Amino acid sequence: MKVGFMQFSPVFANPDRNVELIREMLGRTEPLDILVLPELALTGYTFKDYKEAYAYSEEIGGPLTSELISIASEYNVTMALGFLEREKKKLYNSSVLLSGEGVRGLYRKVHLFYREKEIFLEGNKGFPVFEINGIKIGLLVCFDWIFPEAMRTLALKGALIILHSTNLILPYYQDAARTRAIENRVFIVLANRTGVEEREGMRNNFTGGSEVIAPSGKVVLKVSKNQEGIFSVSINPGDARDKKVTELNDIFKDRREKFYEGWNNR
Ligand code: ACM
Repeated sequence: MKVGFMQFSPVFANPDRNVELIREMLGRTEPLDILVLPELALTGYTFKDYKEAYAYSEEIGGPLTSELISIASEYNVTMALGFLEREKKKLYNSSVLLSGEGVRGLYRKVHLFYREKEIFLEGNKGFPVFEINGIKIGLLVCFDWIFPEAMRTLALKGALIILHSTNLILPYYQDAARTRAIENRVFIVLANRTGVEEREGMRNNFTGGSEVIAPSGKVVLKVSKNQEGIFSVSINPGDARDKKVTELNDIFKDRREKFYEGWNNR
C-alpha cells in the first residue's frame, strides 16, 4: 500500500483555490492509495474569530465535499483532510476521510490548541476507527499529539495507520511522533503545512517537516520545512499488527491496567 501526504501552504480563505491545488498536485504525482492533507487544508488556519471562520465553514456533504469525492474517484485515492466543519451554528476542527465511494469517516478534533478554543467546539465523537480495504485507520488533528491517550485509544481499537492532519507551530511533534509510533507500534502519516499566516496581530509560522513513521520508529519518508508537493512511500500495514518489541514483550498484552490509576476515571 502506498501512503503519503501533501505538504503545501493553503491559500487563506479560498477553499475553491485549495481544492484546485489538490487536484493539480494529484495530477502531477505518482498514484497512491492514501493521501493525508494538513489541518484546515481548504481554508488556512488564522481566523480572527468565530464569525469569520463561520463564513468559510461547510457541512459534511456540501459542494466542496462532493468536489473532493470526485477528485478521489478520478485519482482512485482515499484522502484524510482537515477542514472547517459546520453543524448548524457549531464549528468543529475536523478531519474527513473520503474516497470515490463517498465520505468514509469523520473525526472532530478533541484537544483544541490555544485560540482555537474561541472558535471551535471540542470534538464530541471520541476517537473512532474506520476500515479501508480491510485496514483499520485512525484520524487525529494536530495538538491531539500531546495527549498520548489519543493515539493509544486508536491503537487499542486496532488502528494500524494513524492519519494525522496538522498545522504545527511548535517544533516538537515531528520528533515526538517517533515515540508515539514506537509506544503504539503503528504507522503514522503526519501531514503538516508550510508558510506563514499574519492576520490582525497574529503570526503563525508553520513548521513543515511532514513524515511517515513505521511501527519501529523508523522515519521512512520525511520532507524539509518548506518543501511543497505530494510525497509517498510503500508500507506494509500488517507490520503494525505485531506488538512485540522482544520475544517476551508484547506492548499491549504487557499493559498493567490495574496500576494505571486516574487514566480513565478522573
Ligand atoms: C495545532 O493544534 N494546530 C497546533
